[in-house]
Amino acid sequence: MSTTGNGSRTGRLDGKVAVISGATGGMGRAACRIFLEEGATVIGVDLSAKAGQALADELDVGKRFAFEVADVSSNSAVVDLAARVKERFGGIDVLYNNAGTCVGKHVLETTEEEWDGIHDVTLKGTFLMTKAFAPLMAGRKGSIVNVSSTGGLVALPNMSAYCAAKGGVLLLTKAMAADLAPDIRVNAICPGAIDTPMLTSLFREFPGQPEAEVRQAFADGHLQKRIGEADEVVRLSAFLASDEASFITGAGVSVDGGFTTT
Ligand SMILES: NC(=O)c1ccc[n+]([C@@H]2O[C@H](COP(=O)([O-])OP(=O)(O)OC[C@H]3O[C@@H](n4cnc5c(N)ncnc54)[C@H](O)[C@@H]3O)[C@@H](O)[C@H]2O)c1
Repeated sequence: MSTTGNGSRTGRLDGKVAVISGATGGMGRAACRIFLEEGATVIGVDLSAKAGQALADELDVGKRFAFEVADVSSNSAVVDLAARVKERFGGIDVLYNNAGTCVGKHVLETTEEEWDGIHDVTLKGTFLMTKAFAPLMAGRKGSIVNVSSTGGLVALPNMSAYCAAKGGVLLLTKAMAADLAPDIRVNAICPGAIDTPMLTSLFREFPGQPEAEVRQAFADGHLQKRIGEADEVVRLSAFLASDEASFITGAGVSVDGGFTTT
């Protein structure tokens, strides 16, 4: 199948089985849709069965999509999830650690619960999911894509817990790439501000500032003077997940409209 422009099917994930966490969120939904378009069988993972059913109805691809409820920050939930996936699919080729949460607060106002919550989902969740699913890649050329952030590369004001967790994801990616080589590739993506429910709720954490003004200020931080779209991030993830990226491992790749360039 030929490689064509944005939005067209390339078949780069034909025959692959992919697990995508945070599947019912902004970038997770886009990932499920695009990975399916690219030929993968997708197991979407998130917290709400109702949202998962709505996603399955929306995607309408029958047996190529399954939804599983699991909290990625719970070891027992993740181990059970991997057992269910193994029983139904045998093994997997791709793990997309996309689930995450965000806190937009000054370091001195961040509570211990907020710190723990963000680290449990973002950093520990990435570790637990990888530990449970890497064995399901045995005998295959596996690919793991972790979602870091521009906040994993540079400091974002009022986001210290988020930056610490995302910086952790980036270095965890490199350490796991070393441990899991040569058969499994592990890479991270570092998105800039992307139009999703997470970003919209972050805009509302700026008291007294109209949402439109905050949105414009975020957009202006990018060389391209705009907020990115979920599809623009997921197309990179689909490439990293595929065999086309066969010599890329341990990398952190920015998809940020130039945010971290200057
Ligand atoms: N939107 C941005 O600007 C931006 C920028 C850089 C990185 N990111 C990262 O991209 C990823 C996706 O974010 P998004 O913007 O689509 O956010 P989102 O809030 O729309 O989606 C996140 C999803 O993760 C799920 N989730 C949260 N905790 C979970 C848990 N314990 N177990 C399983 N699922 C859980 C949520 O239910 C939600 O569906 C996150 O890791 C986020 O930190 C987002």
